[in-house]
Amino acid sequence: MTTPHQPREQWGSRLGFMLAALGSAVGLGNIWRFSYVAGESGGAAFLFIYLLCIIAIGLPILMAEFTIGRRAQSDVVGSFQSLAPGKPWILAGFLGVASGFIILSFYGVVAGWSIYYFLQYVMGGPPVSGEGGSADFFINFHTSPFFPLLWQFLFMAITVGIVYAGVKKGIEKSNKILMPLLAVLVLILAGYSMTLSGAGEAFNFLFAPDWSALTDPSVYLAALSQAFFSLSLGMGALITYGSYLSKEEKLPGAAVGVASMDSLFAIVAGLMIFPAVFTFGIAPDSGPGLVFITLPDIFDSMGFGVAYGLIFFFLLSAAAVSSGVSLLEVAVAYFMRRMGWTRQKTAIFIGSIIFLLGIPSSLGLGVWSNVSIFGERDIFDSMDFLASYIFLPVGGLFIALFIGWGWKKADALEASNFGDTVIGNIWLWILRIFAPLAILAVFLYSTGIITL
Ligand code: PHE
Ligand code: NA
Repeated sequence: MTTPHQPREQWGSRLGFMLAALGSAVGLGNIWRFSYVAGESGGAAFLFIYLLCIIAIGLPILMAEFTIGRRAQSDVVGSFQSLAPGKPWILAGFLGVASGFIILSFYGVVAGWSIYYFLQYVMGGPPVSGEGGSADFFINFHTSPFFPLLWQFLFMAITVGIVYAGVKKGIEKSNKILMPLLAVLVLILAGYSMTLSGAGEAFNFLFAPDWSALTDPSVYLAALSQAFFSLSLGMGALITYGSYLSKEEKLPGAAVGVASMDSLFAIVAGLMIFPAVFTFGIAPDSGPGLVFITLPDIFDSMGFGVAYGLIFFFLLSAAAVSSGVSLLEVAVAYFMRRMGWTRQKTAIFIGSIIFLLGIPSSLGLGVWSNVSIFGERDIFDSMDFLASYIFLPVGGLFIALFIGWGWKKADALEASNFGDTVIGNIWLWILRIFAPLAILAVFLYSTGIITL
């Protein structure tokens, strides 16, 4: 027996929706993932392609997700089902739920590191000294088998707690204060970082493109994946969030706001991190640990560094929670409806499974580091690869095609609030032709099926 139909939850206001969507977008992706991927992919040339991907592909698909969710008023699977019953689009829904599981499983590992660093600063700062000290400290910590799991568990527990509390009381409330604070702090730190001796080199690295980097096909896929990851696209997080929005609210402004704030965040984070990279002689391609090695060096070198460290890692952890919440909500919304379970039970159950799923990613960086799944990639990188390089872009492709070809033109234009305007028509043609071809081209080119 399922309980009699309760009205579906909704956001308290349009602002609440925007902040929640922004909370989903702004997270570890902007600071942790952006900096290490940019560092590995050559800096400015990567940044250029990344921004192109955001504007020409990401933003239109972001609008598409809001539009689908708000029209269907259902979770990611239910949305495709109710808008196109009996059609194969529903596969994109299942892909989205699967992506939620995979991404949150390794996202929780890094979020756990952030919580651990926060507590280190509460206790006076990590005990690092001398050249390479912060790198050694990070390596010792994140390769140890047990402790990282503890913090990952704590992160998952907080995330589950917020989803448990519901759309309005949990998700909407938690973002209103923390996001602006994080933005201010990143700006302050970037300002300080720009006074370091490596700032000039960092500036060149980030803004003076070495176009020869673009002859490496993998840069395009790295940029496209980062655009999807950072905007929370391709897996229905924003379909799900859009589904809690009432029909009266306008969508395009919210989409532009989220995409531009998210990109700005990443750029300023780059200005915070790369001066330290060059000042303290850290390799830009140090991989997923980059932030956890550079930032302690920044804090160590500045007055009141411990206080800055404490506030920073608190805010980074909070940003990770607000993104984690959106990842969990995709699966929770689906299973609640599908199984007829309560929100509370579903949140705990799915959250536990995702925590367990994340354990191998954490161990894969330490005791299981000789295990690789895709190519040379360890378990952690393989999860990221599967979700960010494959599931998200493929999900985005489906979403674009769904609105572009699966809907009537007038319907799509009306549901999006664009109406029959020039911009609306451009949006539709991007979803119909440009975005799908661009995604396919990047895929084929980068994976070497086509070599130019
Ligand atoms: N956008 C989030 C970040 O940048 C991560 C995320 C990806 C969240 C996909 C939801 C869905 O950290
Ligand atoms: Na982001």
